[in-house]
Amino acid sequence: MTTTDVTKVLVLGASGKTGRRVAERLRRRSNVVVRPASRSTRPRFDWNDESTWDEVLDGMDAAYVVYAPDLAAPGADEAVGAFARRAVSLGVRRLVLLSGRGEEGAGRAERTLGASGAEWTVVRCAWFAQAFSEDFLRDAVVDGTIALPAGEVAEPFVDADDIADVAVAALLDSGDAGHAGRVYELTGPRALTFAQVAAELSEAIGREVRYVPVPETEYGAMLTGHGVPEADAEFLAGLFATVLDGRNAHVADGVREALGREPRDVRDVVRAAATDGAWDAAAVTRAG
Ligand SMILES: NC(=O)c1ccc[n+]([C@@H]2O[C@H](COP(=O)([O-])OP(=O)(O)OC[C@H]3O[C@@H](n4cnc5c(N)ncnc54)[C@H](OP(=O)(O)O)[C@@H]3O)[C@@H](O)[C@H]2O)c1
Repeated sequence: MTTTDVTKVLVLGASGKTGRRVAERLRRRSNVVVRPASRSTRPRFDWNDESTWDEVLDGMDAAYVVYAPDLAAPGADEAVGAFARRAVSLGVRRLVLLSGRGEEGAGRAERTLGASGAEWTVVRCAWFAQAFSEDFLRDAVVDGTIALPAGEVAEPFVDADDIADVAVAALLDSGDAGHAGRVYELTGPRALTFAQVAAELSEAIGREVRYVPVPETEYGAMLTGHGVPEADAEFLAGLFATVLDGRNAHVADGVREALGREPRDVRDVVRAAATDGAWDAAAVTRAG
């Protein structure tokens, strides 16, 4: 497959942190047609409703595959496998899977996608640096306290823009670029503890943000106290305690392998987010 062979690309999770960035990059390519898909697009795509899959896959050359809510969720690997096989049977040749590090469900999803017969690439990521500015930790940052079952473990937070750059290269580059059959392990250039990230956030925003380590069970109770259903709270607490037990504390060089350049540091990500008013907007919303 050459670059010109891939002109029609399906992007799942297209309103999410990485899918949005992948779709934006693809739209800048004049020869590429992008089909964003999620539960809120037309045509609609829902992981939990197989009857929505064919319409979004129809006529596509390649797909960026984002499973929601998380590859660690029960049944995620079966769904990804079934989706990949369906994609191949409908003529989609290239699949790029967004995956997570050190997590069994994600590993199973990677293997089942790999066995689908597609030309595949796995983009296996560390914690997204944008968790603090665009995701569930944004309100915590606004409140000034990040509580997580992460002890003093370090995490090499990866920039969602780096993830999107790698995904687009894997989706579009010619076979000669060598992304097919590759697992790119994407991290930032250094691992920081949550206390160190809190210090970076404090400096970027100009007021104190602190990190409070909490035990897994206490974290689960905290989430249910915030209205998260008990089963989801238990799942999330267990997932965080697992992936933040030190197994993922090492830096990897997937960004350099895929793109030949260095990854962006979490410090630069939070400084840019502060300049863009990421936490100002949240503060205004909450105050209102
Ligand atoms: N956050 C991290 O640090 C991290 C690290 C490594 C890997 N990951 C993986 O990243 C993935 C999430 O990606 P992301 O952070 O880019 O997305 P995200 O910001 O969590 O957004 C989720 C996207 O999926 C869509 N979605 C939600 N439920 C869906 C459903 N049932 N069917 C179809 N689409 C659905 C949402 O749009 P609608 O609401 O319109 O459907 C949205 O576009 C997960 O698989 C997770 O395992 C995350």
